[in-house]
Amino acid sequence: MNGATQAIRGIFFDLIDDPWKHSGHESRAARFLPDGLLVVKDGIIADFGPFDEVSPRHPGIAVTHIPDRLILPGFIDGHIHFPQVRVLGAYGNQLLDWLQKWIFPEELKYADREYAREAAGRFFDALLAGGTTTCQAFTTSSPVSTEEFFAEAARRNMRVIAGLTGIDRFAPEDFLITPEAFYAESKRLIGEYHRKGRNLYAITPRFAVGCTTEMMEACSRLKKEYPDCWINTHISENPSEIRTARQEYPDCTDYTQVHEKHGLLGPKFTAGHGVWLSDDEMRRFSRAGAAVSFCPLSNLFLGSGLFRLGRAKDPANPVRLSLGTDMGGGNSFSLIRAMEEAYKVGMCNNTMLDGSVNPREQDLAEAERNKLSPYRAFYLGTLGGAHSLYLDDVLGNFDKGKEADFVVLDWNAGQLAMAWRQSLAVPGGAPANVDEAAQLLFGIMAVGDDRNVDETWIAGARAHKRTPS
Ligand code: GUN
Ligand code: ZN
Repeated sequence: MNGATQAIRGIFFDLIDDPWKHSGHESRAARFLPDGLLVVKDGIIADFGPFDEVSPRHPGIAVTHIPDRLILPGFIDGHIHFPQVRVLGAYGNQLLDWLQKWIFPEELKYADREYAREAAGRFFDALLAGGTTTCQAFTTSSPVSTEEFFAEAARRNMRVIAGLTGIDRFAPEDFLITPEAFYAESKRLIGEYHRKGRNLYAITPRFAVGCTTEMMEACSRLKKEYPDCWINTHISENPSEIRTARQEYPDCTDYTQVHEKHGLLGPKFTAGHGVWLSDDEMRRFSRAGAAVSFCPLSNLFLGSGLFRLGRAKDPANPVRLSLGTDMGGGNSFSLIRAMEEAYKVGMCNNTMLDGSVNPREQDLAEAERNKLSPYRAFYLGTLGGAHSLYLDDVLGNFDKGKEADFVVLDWNAGQLAMAWRQSLAVPGGAPANVDEAAQLLFGIMAVGDDRNVDETWIAGARAHKRTPS
């Protein structure tokens, strides 16, 4: 970690609670400091609050002043694919064909260490440029890719979750890994990387279509032997995928049962997508403390469907949720753009739920939960993501004792029209209260992208500075 004690002065915004719990008063879930001071020691937040209160407690401390920017906790991407950087935005197929045509051939190259190392550099540069400081990532079925991923994350001192990706059917022969080799290599990699620096290990069955019962059993054994590890997979993304999974697991009544049967559904389990999960499956996720990563960029790009956000946030059965880019199924590294797409998914779902197509489908309470305010969107991208990954004790906001990863947003950057658009929200030129800050953040998520990310800091050290265009 970065040894010195130092402080950052600026305009701070973070979430301290789930805004869905404060419907109608969402600002109560946020904290806004128009002039704040963040004190960082050894990469950890040592003090935080209004400048006038905090500064006298730290006489002589070196202060970096970052004016005219909004400083937020670093973004957390709950679902992304390291080896898909180069097939970002590939043309023309839905999930199962897309995997065969574009993804498996590209991922196969990551058995080559040089290729994987170069890709890791590019991957983390792109993440940081988008303001993402933590991700839960898939690697490939080659251990080399997992090693290079963790090595690059450690060089950058980033908090990441990843693991060797298990697949023993539904891909070209040379891409498959046997359950025995997967088990042995996963054990070795857990020993080498889990909780070394900021690296965390996820046991990673790619998806039920690509995993035999023997592969799922290998994952189950690993989780029993290493209960501290995370589990990362895909679920119910695309109708053809679900049909195939049902054929492969005829003894399971639904997709979720494949994971229940192998003792995987529980805390620290995340499944990407969940677009087509039934109400009953969502209820079982909720009870188990398992998480879904909502990946709207991908769900729209691959035509998978519209995730039912309002159902997942049902207060009777709330599901832990992160936001994921699912890059390269998602066509951007930017969680800001994922927020934009998540907003649009909610709006599309509400065309049904407001009853205008079929009055019998009206559900105004669910429709309200679909509306992605800036409080809700930035919660999912920060504290909510941390909560879903069981990392909210160390990440997600500016509470003392957490790791000092943060992002510096320029609310006027990006499209030519942006600055004038934003000036409507802040007559004084800078946000004077939490509502004005939220309005600027909605401008960023609705109109913005990477260009709004001016700086990204990891453990109290600046890791990215936008190059002026
Ligand atoms: N399901 C199994 N593998 C993948 C993948 O690489 N991307 C997406 N979006 N879904 C998957
Ligand atoms: Zn994915």
